[in-house]
Amino acid sequence: MKSRLISAFFLRRASNFSSLPETHRILRDTLAAFTNEQLIPNAHNFDKFGLFPRDQIEQLGKLGILSLNIPSSLGGAEFDYLAYAIAVEEISRGCASTGVIVSVNNSLYLGPILKFGSDKQKEDFITPFCDGTRLGCFALSEPGNGSDAGAASCTAKEESDCFVLNGTKAWITNGYEAEAAIVFATTDKQAKHKGISAFIVPKPFEGLSLGKKEDKLGIRASSTCNLILENCRVPKENILGNLGEGFKIAMSTLDSGRIGIASQALGIAQASIDCAVDYALQRKSFGSPISNLQSIQIKLADMETRLQSARLLTWHAATLQSEGEIFTKEAAMAKLAASEAATFCSHQAIQILGGMGYVTEMPAERHYRDARITEIYEGTSEIQKLVIAGNLIKEYQ
Ligand code: CAA
Repeated sequence: MKSRLISAFFLRRASNFSSLPETHRILRDTLAAFTNEQLIPNAHNFDKFGLFPRDQIEQLGKLGILSLNIPSSLGGAEFDYLAYAIAVEEISRGCASTGVIVSVNNSLYLGPILKFGSDKQKEDFITPFCDGTRLGCFALSEPGNGSDAGAASCTAKEESDCFVLNGTKAWITNGYEAEAAIVFATTDKQAKHKGISAFIVPKPFEGLSLGKKEDKLGIRASSTCNLILENCRVPKENILGNLGEGFKIAMSTLDSGRIGIASQALGIAQASIDCAVDYALQRKSFGSPISNLQSIQIKLADMETRLQSARLLTWHAATLQSEGEIFTKEAAMAKLAASEAATFCSHQAIQILGGMGYVTEMPAERHYRDARITEIYEGTSEIQKLVIAGNLIKEYQ
Protein backbone atom coordinates (compact mmCIF):
# COMPACT_ATOMS: atom_id res chain seq x y z
CA MET A 1 0.00 0.00 0.00
CA LYS A 2 2.73 2.46 1.01
CA SER A 3 4.85 2.03 -2.15
CA ARG A 4 1.79 2.42 -4.36
CA LEU A 5 0.84 5.59 -2.55
CA ILE A 6 4.31 7.00 -3.11
CA SER A 7 4.53 6.17 -6.82
CA ALA A 8 1.03 7.50 -7.46
CA PHE A 9 2.06 10.63 -5.63
CA PHE A 10 5.11 11.23 -7.82
CA LEU A 11 3.22 10.62 -11.07
CA ARG A 12 0.39 12.96 -10.15
CA ARG A 13 2.55 15.65 -8.58
CA ALA A 14 4.96 15.80 -11.52
CA SER A 15 2.26 17.18 -13.77
CA ASN A 16 0.56 19.38 -11.14
CA PHE A 17 3.60 21.35 -10.11
CA SER A 18 5.56 21.60 -13.35
CA SER A 19 4.86 25.33 -13.68
CA LEU A 20 6.71 26.17 -10.44
CA PRO A 21 10.11 27.89 -10.64
CA GLU A 22 12.98 25.39 -10.59
CA THR A 23 14.09 26.34 -7.07
CA HIS A 24 10.62 25.63 -5.75
CA ARG A 25 10.37 22.33 -7.63
CA ILE A 26 13.69 21.20 -6.17
CA LEU A 27 12.53 22.22 -2.69
CA ARG A 28 9.25 20.36 -3.17
CA ASP A 29 10.92 17.22 -4.51
CA THR A 30 13.43 17.22 -1.65
CA LEU A 31 10.67 17.57 0.92
CA ALA A 32 8.45 15.02 -0.85
CA ALA A 33 11.26 12.48 -0.51
CA PHE A 34 11.82 13.48 3.13
CA THR A 35 8.11 13.17 3.87
CA ASN A 36 7.84 9.77 2.22
CA GLU A 37 10.88 8.41 4.03
CA GLN A 38 10.81 10.17 7.40
CA LEU A 39 7.29 11.32 8.16
CA ILE A 40 4.72 8.98 6.57
CA PRO A 41 6.26 5.85 8.17
CA ASN A 42 6.44 7.49 11.63
CA ALA A 43 3.36 9.72 11.78
CA HIS A 44 1.12 7.01 13.23
CA ASN A 45 3.42 6.46 16.22
CA PHE A 46 4.05 10.17 16.73
CA ASP A 47 0.28 10.62 16.92
CA LYS A 48 -0.50 7.54 19.01
CA PHE A 49 2.11 8.22 21.68
CA GLY A 50 2.23 12.03 21.43
CA LEU A 51 5.91 11.91 20.50
CA PHE A 52 7.55 15.18 19.53
CA PRO A 53 9.39 14.55 16.21
CA ARG A 54 12.74 15.87 17.46
CA ASP A 55 14.98 14.02 14.93
CA GLN A 56 12.84 15.03 11.99
CA ILE A 57 12.76 18.68 13.11
CA GLU A 58 16.55 18.69 13.41
CA GLN A 59 16.91 17.15 9.95
CA LEU A 60 14.50 19.73 8.53
CA GLY A 61 16.50 22.41 10.33
CA LYS A 62 19.67 21.26 8.53
CA LEU A 63 17.80 21.67 5.24
CA GLY A 64 16.89 25.26 6.19
CA ILE A 65 13.17 24.51 6.59
CA LEU A 66 12.89 26.01 10.08
CA SER A 67 14.03 29.44 8.81
CA LEU A 68 12.80 29.54 5.23
CA ASN A 69 12.26 33.31 5.00
CA ILE A 70 15.25 34.47 7.04
CA PRO A 71 18.13 36.11 5.15
CA SER A 72 21.27 33.99 4.86
CA SER A 73 23.21 36.76 6.68
CA LEU A 74 21.22 35.82 9.80
CA GLY A 75 21.56 32.08 9.21
CA GLY A 76 18.33 31.42 7.30
CA ALA A 77 17.53 29.75 3.98
CA GLU A 78 16.37 32.99 2.31
CA PHE A 79 13.46 31.54 0.35
CA ASP A 80 10.28 33.44 -0.50
CA TYR A 81 6.82 32.84 1.00
CA LEU A 82 5.64 30.60 -1.84
CA ALA A 83 8.46 28.26 -0.86
CA TYR A 84 7.22 28.44 2.74
CA ALA A 85 3.69 27.43 1.62
CA ILE A 86 5.01 24.56 -0.49
CA ALA A 87 7.25 23.32 2.32
CA VAL A 88 4.55 23.34 5.00
CA GLU A 89 2.12 21.54 2.67
CA GLU A 90 4.61 18.80 1.77
CA ILE A 91 5.54 18.20 5.40
CA SER A 92 1.91 18.21 6.55
CA ARG A 93 1.03 15.64 3.88
CA GLY A 94 3.11 13.25 5.97
CA CYS A 95 2.62 14.60 9.47
CA ALA A 96 0.39 17.58 10.27
CA SER A 97 1.99 17.93 13.71
CA THR A 98 5.42 18.43 12.16
CA GLY A 99 3.78 20.88 9.76
CA VAL A 100 2.52 23.15 12.53
CA ILE A 101 5.80 22.98 14.47
CA VAL A 102 7.59 24.19 11.33
CA SER A 103 4.94 26.79 10.53
CA VAL A 104 4.96 28.35 14.02
CA ASN A 105 8.76 28.64 14.17
CA ASN A 106 8.90 30.24 10.73
CA SER A 107 5.98 32.62 10.72
CA LEU A 108 4.80 33.23 14.30
CA TYR A 109 8.19 33.32 15.98
CA LEU A 110 10.96 34.27 13.53
CA GLY A 111 8.69 36.35 11.27
CA PRO A 112 7.85 39.17 13.73
CA ILE A 113 11.41 39.38 15.07
CA LEU A 114 12.71 39.76 11.51
CA LYS A 115 10.12 42.45 10.77
CA PHE A 116 10.09 44.40 14.04
CA GLY A 117 13.23 43.34 15.95
CA SER A 118 16.41 45.35 16.66
CA ASP A 119 19.77 44.13 15.31
CA LYS A 120 20.63 42.75 18.75
CA GLN A 121 17.29 40.91 19.01
CA LYS A 122 17.86 39.41 15.56
CA GLU A 123 21.32 38.25 16.58
CA ASP A 124 20.13 36.75 19.87
CA PHE A 125 16.70 35.42 18.94
CA ILE A 126 16.79 34.66 15.20
CA THR A 127 20.20 33.18 14.37
CA PRO A 128 20.23 30.49 17.12
CA PHE A 129 16.67 29.49 16.12
CA CYS A 130 17.32 28.85 12.42
CA ASP A 131 18.69 25.32 12.32
CA GLY A 132 16.04 23.29 14.16
CA THR A 133 18.04 22.82 17.36
CA ARG A 134 16.04 25.57 19.08
CA LEU A 135 12.39 26.49 18.56
CA GLY A 136 10.30 29.54 19.36
CA CYS A 137 6.62 30.07 20.11
CA PHE A 138 3.98 32.83 20.02
CA ALA A 139 1.85 33.62 23.06
CA LEU A 140 -1.21 35.72 22.22
CA SER A 141 -4.35 33.84 23.37
CA GLU A 142 -5.39 33.60 27.01
CA PRO A 143 -7.82 31.35 28.89
CA GLY A 144 -10.35 34.19 28.79
CA ASN A 145 -9.77 35.52 25.26
CA GLY A 146 -9.06 33.91 21.91
CA SER A 147 -10.94 35.53 19.04
CA ASP A 148 -11.03 38.89 20.83
CA ALA A 149 -7.26 39.20 20.82
CA GLY A 150 -7.37 42.87 21.85
CA ALA A 151 -8.86 41.98 25.25
CA ALA A 152 -5.55 40.81 26.75
CA SER A 153 -5.59 40.58 30.53
CA CYS A 154 -1.97 39.53 30.95
CA THR A 155 -0.29 42.66 32.36
CA ALA A 156 3.12 44.28 31.89
CA LYS A 157 4.02 46.77 34.61
CA GLU A 158 6.93 49.12 33.97
CA GLU A 159 9.75 49.25 36.53
CA SER A 160 13.11 50.98 36.21
CA ASP A 161 14.92 48.56 33.85
CA CYS A 162 12.22 46.00 33.08
CA PHE A 163 8.55 45.15 32.59
CA VAL A 164 7.00 42.79 35.14
CA LEU A 165 4.66 40.34 33.39
CA ASN A 166 1.78 38.59 35.15
CA GLY A 167 -0.96 36.39 33.70
CA THR A 168 -1.52 33.21 31.72
CA LYS A 169 -1.16 32.70 27.98
CA ALA A 170 -3.06 29.72 26.54
CA TRP A 171 -2.94 27.24 23.63
CA ILE A 172 0.73 27.80 22.92
CA THR A 173 1.98 25.59 20.09
CA ASN A 174 5.61 24.46 20.67
CA GLY A 175 5.17 25.69 24.27
CA TYR A 176 7.02 22.74 25.81
CA GLU A 177 10.03 22.66 23.54
CA ALA A 178 10.39 26.36 22.77
CA GLU A 179 13.45 28.18 24.06
CA ALA A 180 11.94 31.63 23.52
CA ALA A 181 8.44 33.07 23.35
CA ILE A 182 6.91 36.21 21.95
CA VAL A 183 4.51 37.22 24.71
CA PHE A 184 1.76 39.82 24.35
CA ALA A 185 0.75 41.75 27.47
CA THR A 186 -1.02 45.01 28.24
CA THR A 187 0.51 48.03 29.93
CA ASP A 188 -2.86 49.81 29.95
CA LYS A 189 -6.04 47.73 29.87
CA GLN A 190 -8.23 50.85 29.41
CA ALA A 191 -6.45 51.55 26.12
CA LYS A 192 -7.66 48.11 24.84
CA HIS A 193 -5.64 46.99 21.79
CA LYS A 194 -3.51 50.17 21.86
CA GLY A 195 -2.19 49.16 25.34
CA ILE A 196 -0.75 45.84 24.15
CA SER A 197 3.00 45.35 23.69
CA ALA A 198 5.11 42.39 22.54
CA PHE A 199 8.01 41.02 24.59
CA ILE A 200 10.63 38.43 23.70
CA VAL A 201 11.04 36.11 26.69
CA PRO A 202 13.80 33.47 26.67
CA LYS A 203 12.95 30.03 28.10
CA PRO A 204 13.61 28.89 30.74
CA PHE A 205 13.29 32.24 32.52
CA GLU A 206 12.59 33.19 36.13
CA GLY A 207 8.86 33.80 36.63
CA LEU A 208 7.83 31.81 33.53
CA SER A 209 6.45 28.29 34.00
CA LEU A 210 4.50 25.82 31.88
CA GLY A 211 1.00 24.46 32.37
CA LYS A 212 0.07 20.86 31.61
CA LYS A 213 0.47 19.52 28.11
CA GLU A 214 -2.99 19.55 26.49
CA ASP A 215 -4.41 16.13 25.50
CA LYS A 216 -5.74 16.90 22.02
CA LEU A 217 -8.04 15.41 19.38
CA GLY A 218 -5.41 15.85 16.65
CA ILE A 219 -1.91 17.17 15.91
CA ARG A 220 -0.97 15.11 18.94
CA ALA A 221 2.77 15.14 18.26
CA SER A 222 3.02 18.91 18.67
CA SER A 223 2.92 20.26 22.20
CA THR A 224 0.28 22.76 23.32
CA CYS A 225 0.30 24.26 26.80
CA ASN A 226 -0.21 27.38 28.91
CA LEU A 227 2.63 29.78 29.69
CA ILE A 228 2.24 31.08 33.24
CA LEU A 229 3.85 34.43 34.05
CA GLU A 230 4.36 35.25 37.74
CA ASN A 231 6.33 38.43 38.37
CA CYS A 232 8.35 37.65 35.28
CA ARG A 233 10.85 40.52 34.94
CA VAL A 234 11.57 41.04 31.27
CA PRO A 235 14.37 43.53 30.45
CA LYS A 236 13.27 46.60 28.50
CA GLU A 237 15.61 45.69 25.66
CA ASN A 238 13.34 42.69 25.00
CA ILE A 239 10.35 44.78 23.91
CA LEU A 240 9.63 43.86 20.30
CA GLY A 241 8.84 46.94 18.20
CA ASN A 242 7.48 49.97 20.02
CA LEU A 243 5.50 50.06 23.25
CA GLY A 244 1.77 49.84 22.43
CA GLU A 245 2.46 48.32 18.99
CA GLY A 246 1.82 44.75 20.10
CA PHE A 247 -1.67 44.29 18.65
CA LYS A 248 -0.55 45.35 15.18
CA ILE A 249 2.50 43.08 15.45
CA ALA A 250 0.20 40.19 16.39
CA MET A 251 -2.24 40.88 13.55
CA SER A 252 0.40 41.26 10.86
CA THR A 253 2.17 38.13 12.15
CA LEU A 254 -1.09 36.18 11.95
CA ASP A 255 -1.53 37.25 8.31
CA SER A 256 1.61 35.30 7.56
CA GLY A 257 0.80 32.47 9.98
CA ARG A 258 -2.55 31.93 8.26
CA ILE A 259 -0.73 31.07 5.02
CA GLY A 260 1.13 28.45 7.04
CA ILE A 261 -2.06 26.95 8.46
CA ALA A 262 -3.70 27.05 5.01
CA SER A 263 -0.68 25.08 3.74
CA GLN A 264 -0.91 22.63 6.62
CA ALA A 265 -4.58 22.10 5.71
CA LEU A 266 -3.65 21.54 2.04
CA GLY A 267 -1.21 18.83 3.12
CA ILE A 268 -3.92 17.10 5.16
CA ALA A 269 -6.41 17.37 2.26
CA GLN A 270 -3.81 15.98 -0.16
CA ALA A 271 -3.02 13.06 2.14
CA SER A 272 -6.74 12.32 2.43
CA ILE A 273 -7.14 12.24 -1.36
CA ASP A 274 -4.01 10.09 -1.81
CA CYS A 275 -5.39 7.62 0.68
CA ALA A 276 -8.94 7.64 -0.77
CA VAL A 277 -7.88 7.18 -4.42
CA ASP A 278 -5.43 4.44 -3.59
CA TYR A 279 -8.08 2.56 -1.64
CA ALA A 280 -10.76 3.10 -4.30
CA LEU A 281 -8.47 1.59 -6.94
CA GLN A 282 -7.89 -1.56 -4.89
CA ARG A 283 -11.18 -2.16 -3.11
CA LYS A 284 -13.65 -4.22 -5.11
CA SER A 285 -17.40 -4.03 -4.74
CA PHE A 286 -20.19 -5.15 -7.07
CA GLY A 287 -17.54 -6.96 -9.15
CA SER A 288 -15.05 -4.16 -9.85
CA PRO A 289 -12.89 -1.52 -8.08
CA ILE A 290 -15.03 1.05 -6.33
CA SER A 291 -13.20 3.77 -8.29
CA ASN A 292 -15.54 2.75 -11.16
CA LEU A 293 -18.62 3.72 -9.15
CA GLN A 294 -20.06 7.14 -9.94
CA SER A 295 -20.89 7.74 -6.28
CA ILE A 296 -17.15 7.44 -5.49
CA GLN A 297 -16.08 9.48 -8.52
CA ILE A 298 -18.36 12.36 -7.53
CA LYS A 299 -16.78 12.45 -4.07
CA LEU A 300 -13.26 12.40 -5.55
CA ALA A 301 -14.14 15.19 -7.99
CA ASP A 302 -15.46 17.39 -5.18
CA MET A 303 -12.39 16.67 -3.03
CA GLU A 304 -9.88 17.45 -5.78
CA THR A 305 -11.69 20.64 -6.84
CA ARG A 306 -11.77 22.00 -3.29
CA LEU A 307 -8.12 21.15 -2.75
CA GLN A 308 -6.91 22.70 -6.00
CA SER A 309 -9.02 25.86 -5.49
CA ALA A 310 -7.68 26.31 -1.98
CA ARG A 311 -4.10 25.72 -3.16
CA LEU A 312 -4.45 28.49 -5.75
CA LEU A 313 -5.75 30.89 -3.08
CA THR A 314 -2.88 29.94 -0.77
CA TRP A 315 -0.19 30.35 -3.40
CA HIS A 316 -1.73 33.66 -4.46
CA ALA A 317 -1.58 34.98 -0.88
CA ALA A 318 2.01 33.72 -0.51
CA THR A 319 3.03 35.37 -3.78
CA LEU A 320 1.52 38.69 -2.69
CA GLN A 321 3.48 38.47 0.56
CA SER A 322 6.71 37.76 -1.33
CA GLU A 323 6.06 40.79 -3.53
CA GLY A 324 5.59 43.03 -0.48
CA GLU A 325 1.89 43.63 -1.21
CA ILE A 326 -0.91 43.72 1.38
CA PHE A 327 -2.26 40.17 1.69
CA THR A 328 -4.47 40.21 4.82
CA LYS A 329 -7.71 39.38 2.96
CA GLU A 330 -6.03 36.82 0.69
CA ALA A 331 -4.40 35.01 3.64
CA ALA A 332 -7.77 34.84 5.43
CA MET A 333 -9.47 33.49 2.26
CA ALA A 334 -6.71 30.91 1.84
CA LYS A 335 -7.02 29.71 5.43
CA LEU A 336 -10.81 29.60 5.28
CA ALA A 337 -10.89 27.65 2.02
CA ALA A 338 -8.00 25.31 2.80
CA SER A 339 -9.19 24.40 6.29
CA GLU A 340 -12.69 23.68 4.98
CA ALA A 341 -11.13 21.62 2.15
CA ALA A 342 -9.12 19.63 4.70
CA THR A 343 -12.18 18.91 6.83
CA PHE A 344 -14.24 18.01 3.76
CA CYS A 345 -11.61 15.82 2.11
CA SER A 346 -10.75 13.94 5.30
CA HIS A 347 -14.46 13.37 5.99
CA GLN A 348 -15.06 12.06 2.47
CA ALA A 349 -11.94 9.89 2.60
CA ILE A 350 -13.38 8.05 5.59
CA GLN A 351 -16.66 7.63 3.72
CA ILE A 352 -14.80 6.07 0.77
CA LEU A 353 -12.76 3.77 3.01
CA GLY A 354 -15.85 2.77 5.02
CA GLY A 355 -14.89 0.68 8.06
CA MET A 356 -11.20 0.91 7.12
CA GLY A 357 -11.48 4.67 7.42
CA TYR A 358 -12.61 4.36 11.01
CA VAL A 359 -9.68 2.33 12.35
CA THR A 360 -6.12 3.43 13.11
CA GLU A 361 -4.67 0.82 10.72
CA MET A 362 -5.19 3.38 7.97
CA PRO A 363 -4.26 7.09 8.20
CA ALA A 364 -7.68 8.44 7.18
CA GLU A 365 -8.95 8.80 10.76
CA ARG A 366 -5.79 10.72 11.75
CA HIS A 367 -6.25 13.12 8.85
CA TYR A 368 -9.85 13.67 10.00
CA ARG A 369 -8.72 14.48 13.55
CA ASP A 370 -5.79 16.63 12.38
CA ALA A 371 -7.96 18.62 9.95
CA ARG A 372 -10.32 19.92 12.63
CA ILE A 373 -7.88 22.31 14.31
CA THR A 374 -7.15 24.14 11.04
CA GLU A 375 -10.63 25.68 11.26
CA ILE A 376 -9.88 26.91 14.78
CA TYR A 377 -6.32 28.07 15.48
CA GLU A 378 -4.72 31.25 14.14
CA GLY A 379 -8.27 32.60 13.86
CA THR A 380 -11.44 30.53 13.52
CA SER A 381 -13.28 30.32 10.17
CA GLU A 382 -15.77 32.82 11.59
CA ILE A 383 -12.93 35.30 12.29
CA GLN A 384 -11.52 34.76 8.78
CA LYS A 385 -14.93 35.74 7.37
CA LEU A 386 -14.89 38.95 9.44
CA VAL A 387 -11.40 39.76 8.15
CA ILE A 388 -12.39 39.02 4.53
CA ALA A 389 -15.62 41.04 4.68
CA GLY A 390 -13.99 43.92 6.59
CA ASN A 391 -11.23 44.26 3.99
CA LEU A 392 -13.64 43.84 1.08
CA ILE A 393 -15.88 46.63 2.34
CA LYS A 394 -12.83 48.87 2.86
CA GLU A 395 -11.92 48.38 -0.81
CA TYR A 396 -15.26 49.99 -1.77
CA GLN A 397 -15.03 52.94 0.61
N1 CAA B 1 -2.11 44.02 10.14
C1 CAA B 1 -1.77 45.16 10.80
N2 CAA B 1 -2.65 45.86 11.58
C2 CAA B 1 -3.91 45.38 11.67
C3 CAA B 1 -4.32 44.21 11.02
C4 CAA B 1 -3.37 43.52 10.23
N3 CAA B 1 -3.69 42.41 9.58
N4 CAA B 1 -5.61 43.98 11.32
C5 CAA B 1 -6.02 44.98 12.12
N5 CAA B 1 -4.98 45.83 12.33
C6 CAA B 1 -5.01 47.08 13.10
C7 CAA B 1 -6.11 48.00 12.59
O1 CAA B 1 -5.66 48.78 11.51
C8 CAA B 1 -6.45 48.82 13.81
O2 CAA B 1 -5.49 49.84 13.91
P1 CAA B 1 -5.88 51.31 14.55
O3 CAA B 1 -6.12 51.06 16.00
O4 CAA B 1 -4.67 52.14 14.31
O5 CAA B 1 -7.08 51.77 13.81
C9 CAA B 1 -6.20 47.84 14.95
O6 CAA B 1 -5.34 46.79 14.45
C10 CAA B 1 -7.48 47.22 15.46
O7 CAA B 1 -8.13 46.60 14.38
P2 CAA B 1 -9.63 46.06 14.48
O8 CAA B 1 -10.51 47.17 14.97
O9 CAA B 1 -9.96 45.39 13.20
O10 CAA B 1 -9.47 44.99 15.66
P3 CAA B 1 -10.54 44.10 16.42
O11 CAA B 1 -10.30 44.23 17.87
O12 CAA B 1 -11.91 44.38 15.89
O13 CAA B 1 -10.09 42.61 16.05
C11 CAA B 1 -10.03 40.59 14.78
C12 CAA B 1 -10.08 42.13 14.79
C13 CAA B 1 -9.94 40.24 13.30
C14 CAA B 1 -11.24 39.95 15.40
C15 CAA B 1 -8.73 40.14 15.52
O14 CAA B 1 -8.84 40.32 16.89
C16 CAA B 1 -8.38 38.70 15.23
O15 CAA B 1 -7.75 38.37 14.19
N6 CAA B 1 -8.74 37.77 16.17
C17 CAA B 1 -8.30 36.39 16.07
C18 CAA B 1 -7.04 36.18 16.83
C19 CAA B 1 -6.33 34.92 16.45
O16 CAA B 1 -6.16 34.59 15.27
N7 CAA B 1 -5.83 34.19 17.45
C20 CAA B 1 -5.05 33.03 17.23
C21 CAA B 1 -3.87 33.04 18.18
S1 CAA B 1 -2.41 32.24 17.68
C22 CAA B 1 -2.73 30.59 17.77
O17 CAA B 1 -3.65 30.12 17.20
C23 CAA B 1 -1.86 29.71 18.60
C24 CAA B 1 -0.82 28.96 17.96
O18 CAA B 1 0.20 28.74 18.59
C25 CAA B 1 -0.97 28.35 16.58
